[in-house]
Amino acid sequence: MNVNKIRDDFPVLNKKAIYFDSACMSLKPVQVIEKMNEYYNEYPACAGRSVHKFGVKLENEVRDARELIKKFINARNSKEIIFTKNATESINLLANSLNFKKVLLTDKEHNSNSLPWRKFKYGVIKSNSDFTFNLEKFTNGIKDYDLISFVLTSNVDGYTLPFKEIIKIAHENKVKVHFDAAQTIPHQEIDVKKLDIDFMSFSGHKMLGPTGTGVFYGKEELLKEMKQFLVGGETVVDSTYSTFVPEPIPAKFEAGLQNYSGIIGLGAAVKYLQKIGMDNVHEHEIKLVKEINTEGLELVGYTGERGIFNFNVPKVTHHEVAHILDSSKNIMIRSGRHCVHPWYNANNIDGSARASFYLYNTLEEIKIFNESLEKLKKLG
Ligand SMILES: Cc1ncc(COP(=O)(O)O)c(C=O)c1O
Repeated sequence: MNVNKIRDDFPVLNKKAIYFDSACMSLKPVQVIEKMNEYYNEYPACAGRSVHKFGVKLENEVRDARELIKKFINARNSKEIIFTKNATESINLLANSLNFKKVLLTDKEHNSNSLPWRKFKYGVIKSNSDFTFNLEKFTNGIKDYDLISFVLTSNVDGYTLPFKEIIKIAHENKVKVHFDAAQTIPHQEIDVKKLDIDFMSFSGHKMLGPTGTGVFYGKEELLKEMKQFLVGGETVVDSTYSTFVPEPIPAKFEAGLQNYSGIIGLGAAVKYLQKIGMDNVHEHEIKLVKEINTEGLELVGYTGERGIFNFNVPKVTHHEVAHILDSSKNIMIRSGRHCVHPWYNANNIDGSARASFYLYNTLEEIKIFNESLEKLKKLG
């Protein structure tokens, strides 16, 4: 993988930013930006409605993007790919379209995979003290539930669940599986068919795609069972003043005019990642994270298996760390509770600084980061 060549594709890196906030929002390559502009410059119409040339061209482009995403996660059918505006909307779609008796969550859920489930009875499985998943507790407790909705890779510590075992145990107990894969899909190949995943949600904007894009995946037979969440234009085949006939999937769930430039831009992002190869992306991130000098830092669940590094500098607040790194060396990280407030509250941690890496980051940037951390440690 040629990182320098990759960096040339990201115009914003010319500004010499050391961008370590990709777990929040990834940068976009020129291929994605150009694809989005193509929509506005060449066929800025609506899809699925108009029979004119722009409408037909756009319809084909949206179909191609759906097909690219289908292949990327190896869904059985492109109808299983629903476009949403982000992972949060995907999760809310599921939580508002089926009735679950009791839902099991982990203690490290992002608010987006926690709050939507509170209308049902729910349980929370506590992680082990080393931040790993407690498979034994899970196996013993699973029988009470009909859905597990787990963060596949944590945005706190980069830990990825032992998903093969989890899916097997869940299905043996007739429990459906939903993964919040917002931090997984941008970094690792996930084959929904081979793994037999029932539902999955992820963001487009964390995987080089445009902001305002997300995906909800569901097995075709389950999507057909789900009732509609948002209704309106394009979600019905026919309606009278008192009745309506829903569209088949996926249109059934995609109400109103869509974020067309975003959708086709997301298709371009998938193409870009496929060309680089997900194994190469993953390997590169691990190489970077392992170069961080962790000595003297308080680590918040370091795994070294994902490009997420969450830490505190003793006696310096997390927001100060972020401000100083930004103002002194143009290093952009995130600070706070990372939308996982329940976990931070339960563990009495006020917040932390998080650096997150992606395919465009370099060892040279990590070196500058290490030097800056040394200076920060001296402030404490
Ligand atoms: C693990 C996890 N789940 C869900 C989300 C929410 O994603 P979105 O902003 O696409 O709704 C995030 C965003 O940071 C996340 O890290």
